[in-house]
Amino acid sequence: MSVDEQILYSLRQSDGAPVSGAELAQRLGVSRAAIWSRIEDLRKLGYGIEAKPHQGYRLVSTPDAIYADDLMARLAADRIVGRDIRVFKSTNSTNDIVEKLAVDGAQQGVVVFAETQSKGRGRMGRKWISAPGLGLYFSLLLKPDIAPAQTTQYTLATATAVRRAVARSTGLEANIKWPNDLLAHGLKLAGILTELRADPDRVQYLLIGIGINVNHAMEDMDPEVSNIATSIRIQTGQKVHRSDLAVSLLKELDDEYRKLREGSFQQVAEEWERYCSTVGSNVTIRMGTRQVCGYAEALDEQGCLLVRNESGRLERIVGGDVTLEKTIYPNF
Ligand code: BTN
Repeated sequence: MSVDEQILYSLRQSDGAPVSGAELAQRLGVSRAAIWSRIEDLRKLGYGIEAKPHQGYRLVSTPDAIYADDLMARLAADRIVGRDIRVFKSTNSTNDIVEKLAVDGAQQGVVVFAETQSKGRGRMGRKWISAPGLGLYFSLLLKPDIAPAQTTQYTLATATAVRRAVARSTGLEANIKWPNDLLAHGLKLAGILTELRADPDRVQYLLIGIGINVNHAMEDMDPEVSNIATSIRIQTGQKVHRSDLAVSLLKELDDEYRKLREGSFQQVAEEWERYCSTVGSNVTIRMGTRQVCGYAEALDEQGCLLVRNESGRLERIVGGDVTLEKTIYPNF
């Protein structure tokens, strides 16, 4: 743990009660002057830390910016996701940074955030516009011992975790569109980009990139996407504390991947199906030059979509771009 992480951890643990400089210095094994100097630097980063004579320091507010030490101070000690966190002011794409870390032998669970990306990318060669300081743009490295065909399970688990974190932190109940979009009132709120390096029968590593439109107002939306995208703020009318949401996301992701490691994909799939707007809908799926139209019946055990096509045959869809045509409400 870094000194900042330990200071922030201690101040948060005290639940608003002041923590003396002497106590912090003793806990961390550094001088009181060193504590004072780190507190000054944390204040410069935007942390509201009150100092009361003869009582100590109290954390009264936190900035909206993403600060790795603070995120780590708020996560469980036995976590995999977020065991190491790096934050960039700006980068090309956080997936590229995580890929470099993977090639250099980084452990699974490392997470890279960026306040903006100059070449953020989405699925099917699309770009992901990353307005500075308004969204959450991050990628994580996983090294599951799975066959490449099981990768879809990780995309679905990611979507479930992101949906749950958004709902718990902001009250916004988004829908999931197979395999990886989060929608609110039919507009795109978040996207997931899963990339992998694999041998023919085994995955070497997965790069999972997540982009969420958080505090964008209508005028912050790029004109290219303003008729198809939305943000949490637009939907709820409330600004979101991005670092609180980031902590919640990392916790939910850690929980969800744990379920997969323990062989409980069924549990993930059940939650996914509950919030999915694809299963039970008529869909058109584009896969390169091929197109399948039909009724999305279910997910299979690998997370692939089972679509009854127009000639009545069940097709198993591994990946593609889904357009929802019309929802069928069985009880109407
Ligand atoms: C999609 O909806 O097509 C997926 C969008 C994924 C965007 C995220 S933002 C963080 C990470 N870095 C990228 O370049 N892309 C992903």
